Parts: sequence; C-alpha cells; structure tokens
Amino acid sequence: MKEFIDLRSDTVTKPTPAMRKVMAEAEVGDDVFGEDPTVNILQEKVAKLLGKEAALFVPSGTMANQLSIKSHTQPGDEVIIESSSHPYNFEGGAGAAISGIQFRCLQGVRGTLEPSQIEEAIRPADHHFPVTRLVCLENTHNRGGGSILPLEKMAEIYRLVKSKELLVHLDGARLWNACVATGIKPYEYAQWADSVSVCLSKGLGAPVGSLVAGSKPFIDRVHRFRKMLGGGMRQAGIIAAAGIYALDHHLERLQEDHQNAKRLAVGLKEFKGVSIDPRHVETNIVIFDLTGTAIRSAQLAEAMKKEGVLIHAISKTQIRLVTHLDVTDKDIEKTLKAFEKILGEK
Ligand SMILES: Cc1ncc(COP(=O)(O)O)c(C=O)c1O
Repeated sequence: MKEFIDLRSDTVTKPTPAMRKVMAEAEVGDDVFGEDPTVNILQEKVAKLLGKEAALFVPSGTMANQLSIKSHTQPGDEVIIESSSHPYNFEGGAGAAISGIQFRCLQGVRGTLEPSQIEEAIRPADHHFPVTRLVCLENTHNRGGGSILPLEKMAEIYRLVKSKELLVHLDGARLWNACVATGIKPYEYAQWADSVSVCLSKGLGAPVGSLVAGSKPFIDRVHRFRKMLGGGMRQAGIIAAAGIYALDHHLERLQEDHQNAKRLAVGLKEFKGVSIDPRHVETNIVIFDLTGTAIRSAQLAEAMKKEGVLIHAISKTQIRLVTHLDVTDKDIEKTLKAFEKILGEK
C-alpha cells in the first residue's frame, strides 16, 4: 500500500508500538459498573489536570460536547457559540436533535469572540425570547486555524457569563496544543469554564477517546446521558490505557507539530497568489486561501494526492493542513516540494 503523507487531520494518527503494548497489557473491568481500573485512573488523571472535581471517559469529542450541552440546558434554551465552531457545524445538528436547544451564532475573528459580542447576545428576561443558558468556547479553534483563545479573554468571558448567572462549556479537543504553545497549564484554562471536553485521539495520537470534566453533580448528569445514548463502554481500559500513555508521552512533543505547521505556513507564503499569514499559525493547523491563484482547492487536493500528500479542501478556495505525530520534518519538506511542483511560480 502506498504510504501517503496525511495532513488532512490530526485524527489520522496510528497507535505506536509502545502504545499498543500498554493497550494489550491494560488491566480491565466492566466500566458500566465503574469497575475498570484503567478507565478510573484516566478519569482521575484528567480531572486533576483540568482542576475539576470529576471527569468521565466518552467515545468521542462530539459526544463529550453534546453530553455537556445536554447536561447544562433545557429544550428551548439558547446557546451562544462562534459561527465556525465545531459543535455548531460538525456534530450532525446534535444540539437541536439531542438537547432541543437553539444555537445563537456570533461571527468571531479566527474563532475568537469578544466579550462585548457575547454580552449583546444575552437575551433579556422577557417571555418573547428564548432563555440564554450557555456559552460554548473552543480552544484551540479548529476552523480558526488552530488559534489560541487567550487566557485573559477566557477569564473576561467567564466573569461576564457568571455575572449573568449563565454557564460556560469549553470545547478543548485541542486544549493540549494551546497549553504546549503557551506554557499555560490545562487547569489554568479550565478554571474559566464550568465544563471542559478534551480529546485523546487528535494530536495526542490515541486511537479513540475523549473526556468531559466538571463538578461532581454535573458529571453525574453527563454519566446518565452517556448511558442513555449508548456511550457506556465495557472493558474500555484497553483504549483508556492508550490515553494515559498519550498524556504521559505525547504531550510535550506537540511542540514539534507546531514547528512543522509554522514551517509549512512560511513555505506556502512564498507561492504567488497563496494567501496565508504565518503569524496566525499558532499551533498545528494551517489554513490557506487560493483565491489569488488559478487553481481551486479540490483540484489542488487531487494533484497533491498524486504527489503522495493528502490535504483537506475545506471550501472552494481554502485548504486545511494539520500536523501530527505521524508527520516528520522531512515530510514537511517533501510536502512543500510537491506544492512547488503544482503551484509553480514563486
Ligand atoms: C474542536 C473540535 N471539537 C470536537 C471535535 C469532535 O471530535 P470527534 O471527532 O472525536 O467527535 C473535533 C474533531 O475534529 C474538533 O476539531
């Protein structure tokens, strides 16, 4: 089978031999009975990292977000969110289908909302209006190009939201990337949210798994809804072990992914008509625009595939590249060479 350099997402990583070994040797039990020791260790570890009372292991980032939304809201409530966010765009309409909420989408700058925008969007107490209940944030922001939501901004939003007696959920699928890029600890970010979802299967390289963290009563509600939706897994220690391994061994190396992403951005900027500002590449995601070139993104993706590189066309003119555990600095140079062959002129 041809080996591609796969830059479509950081979810494509395969478990390393060392990770597979700890998975094979994991101590397991029935987690629906709360008896899987490895799952329990992972949950305690992540709760501690995030400075929360409790955490629950769930199959995916989507389930982590949607169980959080369901546990915070009542049908008919309104949830304020950025318009290119993951829970609004890429979770199959689950907010409406599972929680019966409506999203109030606000346009951010590379995914970041200003507290003043949120303040304006909070509904007054009037029977005509839906009840604003929750604000969802995303850090780092996927479609914002892996942008980091600054700690001070999170603190400001949280204080505002609390002054209105509302709640904050943080989609922290890639919070680890923000932590490694800034040196800010996970609990420092998480203190500015009532609930946090984190993923082990993105940059950290585990094959599957996410967690939700928050207060004990909140996690108790999340647990009930996880059962309701069939997300209770039995001998889940096999996959939890991969998550523990990933947190212990793959966290610091995210810095390499960030350097590789920056290198891609700097290289791409050289091509005539390609629009990208390398200063905006803060973590492992690179989004660039082809409007100024003669090629459209689907064509570029096809041509790159022939060169052995997989990339993701996210619109007619925009491409997303994501660096990860299975992409080396040599792969980055090969990728830039392939781009040069197709995009030509510098
Ligand atoms: C920011 C963000 N949140 C949530 C998710 C959902 O994760 P999953 O694919 O595990 O459902 C993703 C997936 O890429 C994501 O980028």
